[in-house]
Amino acid sequence: MRSNPSGRYTLGHEHSTLASHRTRTAANSAAYLLPHLKPGMQLLDIGCGPGTISLDLAALVAPGKVIGLENTETPLLAARAEAAARSDTSTMFQFGDALNLPFEDDRFDVVHAHQVLQHLAAPLTALREMLRVCKPGGWVAARDADYAAMSWYPELPGLEQWRQTYCAAARANGAEPNAARRLRAWAHAAGIPHPRMTASLWCYADTENCLWLGHG
Ligand SMILES: C[S@@+](CC[C@H](N)C(=O)[O-])C[C@H]1O[C@@H](n2cnc3c(N)ncnc32)[C@H](O)[C@@H]1O
Repeated sequence: MRSNPSGRYTLGHEHSTLASHRTRTAANSAAYLLPHLKPGMQLLDIGCGPGTISLDLAALVAPGKVIGLENTETPLLAARAEAAARSDTSTMFQFGDALNLPFEDDRFDVVHAHQVLQHLAAPLTALREMLRVCKPGGWVAARDADYAAMSWYPELPGLEQWRQTYCAAARANGAEPNAARRLRAWAHAAGIPHPRMTASLWCYADTENCLWLGHG
């Protein structure tokens, strides 16, 4: 089903991966975007995963509509189940490829991708597609991770080995795990001359999160 054979998705869609992605909310993963959202906006969430961020965003732009897009079935099913659990009958979760978006030009007010560009072998193609389907004056919004910037204590050898192994696997799949630091350059290359850059982090230092991350 993949139209980008050189960009195999490294993480897969195992239960543990989807469970981790389900902890994501618009507040903890897209806070930079929230001040720009207005009721009535049409929003596309590319690589929506299990849909928790998409559905939070849907509540903020209603009666505008959100479409969540995925190029594999497993997260789409999870996202539809999440929508049903929230009694959201308006948000659509549909199949499509970030590199060849199945939408006409200038369709959306907001085109969003959270932790997706880092997984693609052609992030510039995806960004250009995001620009294409975004209305003039709309928002193209991307947040991504930077594996080399992740830090922890104690400096356990096993965790460093995990980082090295993951980064090697991602690069073998044609992706760039240190994506965040490249976002500005990618935006320039995609034709966004003055991107607005912000930084935010996830902190797992309280007891609940240490237990979740360590044993989840
Ligand atoms: C790290 S997950 C992020 C999911 C969600 N945005 C979140 O933050 O919870 C990346 C998602 O992008 C999807 N993806 C990867 N390549 C894609 C492509 N070419 N087109 C659409 N989705 C893609 C994967 O299936 C995966 O669910």
